[in-house]
Amino acid sequence: MSAPRKQIHLAAHFPGVNNTTVWSDPRSRSQIDFSSFVHLARTAERGLFDFFFLAEGLRLREHRGRIHDLDVVGRPDTLTVLGALAGVTQRLGLAGTINTTFNEPYELARQFASLDLLSDGRAAWNMVTSPDAFTGENFRRGGYLDRADRYVRAREVIEGARAFWDAWPDDALVVDRERGVFAAPSREVTHRTTQFDIAGRSPLPRSPQGHPVLLQAGDSGDGREFGAAHADAIFTVHGSIEAGKAFFADVKERLARYGRDRDALKVLPAAAVVLGDSAEDAAERARDIRLRQVGPHTAIAFLEQVWGRDLAEYDPDGPLPAVEPVDNPDITRGRVRHAQDPRRVAQEWRERAAAEKLSIRELVIAVTSREQFVGTARHVAREIDRYVQEDACDGFILVPHLTPAGLDEFVDTVVPELQDLGSFRTEYTGTTLREHLGLPRPHDTTRGARAS
Ligand SMILES: Cc1cc2nc3c(=O)[nH]c(=O)nc-3n(C[C@H](O)[C@H](O)[C@H](O)COP(=O)(O)O)c2cc1C
Repeated sequence: MSAPRKQIHLAAHFPGVNNTTVWSDPRSRSQIDFSSFVHLARTAERGLFDFFFLAEGLRLREHRGRIHDLDVVGRPDTLTVLGALAGVTQRLGLAGTINTTFNEPYELARQFASLDLLSDGRAAWNMVTSPDAFTGENFRRGGYLDRADRYVRAREVIEGARAFWDAWPDDALVVDRERGVFAAPSREVTHRTTQFDIAGRSPLPRSPQGHPVLLQAGDSGDGREFGAAHADAIFTVHGSIEAGKAFFADVKERLARYGRDRDALKVLPAAAVVLGDSAEDAAERARDIRLRQVGPHTAIAFLEQVWGRDLAEYDPDGPLPAVEPVDNPDITRGRVRHAQDPRRVAQEWRERAAAEKLSIRELVIAVTSREQFVGTARHVAREIDRYVQEDACDGFILVPHLTPAGLDEFVDTVVPELQDLGSFRTEYTGTTLREHLGLPRPHDTTRGARAS
């Protein structure tokens, strides 16, 4: 008998920041209006997705000393939005990105436990570190933490939060009318580490899924190790089939060090999808979308982030600058910096632009392309399935280019194709996010204590 087909996990990334959204499209709507969040969440639930996903930016980005007007201003608080969405969805997981550098374990544990209880076990926390000093100024402490210490603190935050979540016995939610209590209280938590000296009790019992699902998104060696130790899923940029397979193998191998099973961690790259009636139609639509996402100003601003200097005089439709980059990490503040060695990156881009005869704008389009699935619904479904069956990933976090209707067509046309392939659910079989992801329920830590 053949092995059961690997099942695909899908999530919906709410767009609205960066230059991903095509604002010039007449169908684009507000990225802060509640109706937009509801539209995307309900579409994802109609498509039987695992979860809805919110990224986070804690400070308005600046480019060359000014608010970066190519980013879109306006991003409501993550947990508030997810709490509201819990009331208008039934099964969809609700994942929020929240920083471990500027927040406290107790308050995070309480906030996420609240979302998890209000949604009957559908919450997830994407734990990010983002330590840059510019963001930190919003929190008075500035860049108080060295890059190397970010994951030390992240570990201590999550271990602290787990200590609070797991300190309630699983069977605590009982009504004892005789004694007049609703739930037995949690046991006391102490958490003494390099960053924290905490003693207290969690005010909330465990949710139907035990505690929130944990996601991770850093890509360094430390980040991957942190994910292998603590995360249930990793959100990654390694979306091509080759890079995906290498990343998948790397992080799955790390799990053994923590006594964890290979299936205990899901790998979910970001992906963009462009659909059309034929391959040519979809390719044409994809070209049009990329040109609208990377307009002339965006192309120059992107180049300036690597070159570290003012390139306003350059023609976006002309060749790459011959001048060398300067080391100026502050030219753009408040975003993750991917080019650690600007001179090497500039050289690689010049070589690519020369070989493929690309202008500045064309080069930026080429290097910023996320893994894209372009084609008919059937072709896209087969490609998504191939990536998952060949262990390049366990599924995708889809990043639509339209707010909020960017997944309508996918849900109407690609989801049925995935179901026909037998690798995507035809109904929700569980109620919690852990059940959707096929993850075991974490143990409460009171068991050993009670058994002895
Ligand atoms: C795919 C991906 C998504 C991320 N999303 C966010 C985000 O929404 N908000 C945030 O503050 N940081 C985000 N980060 C930044 C990471 O938390 C981390 O700070 C950064 O990647 C540097 O860590 P590293 O050196 O381990 O990669 C993201 C990183 C990756 C790779």
